[in-house]
Amino acid sequence: MMDRNADAPWSQFDPEAYVDLNYRTPLEVDLLIVRLMRDYFSRCYAQGVPSSVRGVDVGAGANLYPALSMLPWCEKILLLEYATPNVEYLEKQASGGGYDTAWDAFWDVLSEAPAYRDVEPRSRFGEIVRVERANLLDLDGQRRWDIGTMFFVADSMSECPDEFRRGVECFMDALNEGAPFAAAFMKESLGYQVGAHRYPAYRVNADRIRESLETFAAELEIHDMDHMVRPGHEGMILALGRRNSAIAAP
Ligand SMILES: C[S@@+](CC[C@H](N)C(=O)[O-])C[C@H]1O[C@@H](n2cnc3c(N)ncnc32)[C@H](O)[C@@H]1O
Repeated sequence: MMDRNADAPWSQFDPEAYVDLNYRTPLEVDLLIVRLMRDYFSRCYAQGVPSSVRGVDVGAGANLYPALSMLPWCEKILLLEYATPNVEYLEKQASGGGYDTAWDAFWDVLSEAPAYRDVEPRSRFGEIVRVERANLLDLDGQRRWDIGTMFFVADSMSECPDEFRRGVECFMDALNEGAPFAAAFMKESLGYQVGAHRYPAYRVNADRIRESLETFAAELEIHDMDHMVRPGHEGMILALGRRNSAIAAP
């Protein structure tokens, strides 16, 4: 039997254990992803930033770097997340106390680029970021954003091919025409452990990612990175691009 999204113990997700495992000591591959995303978004907005850009990070979990990478471009950023412990983690990060110092290493890389340099990230994050509990698979194209990120979600929430495809589709349908996006995936993941619990994954490679995104995307760039973080996967894949004009009616 394949594990479906609804079968996994999301209500038991431990954000602190997840940060310890993945982000407390920044990995070279994440810093590389941050650099690629920063430079891509900077190119997208090189001719100027439209007024009132709204950003979304889908399945934000306990990772702030996708939202940080959208900070200079957005008037508002919404973090959508399904697991209640992660929603609470994110709300705390966006509250008056400011986000944890663990995220400073990622901002340091972002702030090497001109558009990021003059942003005061902690106060801006607190001002423009909001958190909402939502299921990616329920996004039906009614709400759309102008820039979006989805990191390790569509491939890291179910073993089922149909839920992976639907996850990608729901994310892409949450973007307005022309919206820049960044999406990341674990390559050939067999699932992952966070604290005492195991979470499902759907095995993807660069071809499968390209195939799942190309009908929705323009300027698609696939970065296939063979950095292994731990046994049970073969690297990471970063997809950058813009939502194309083939937007289905809601
Ligand atoms: C591997 S974690 C990735 C978290 C984070 N984006 C990152 O880059 O580290 C997978 C995330 O997907 C979230 N998730 C699982 N099912 C979801 C769903 N149906 N809708 C929205 N988020 C979901 C989990 O709670 C978890 O935060």
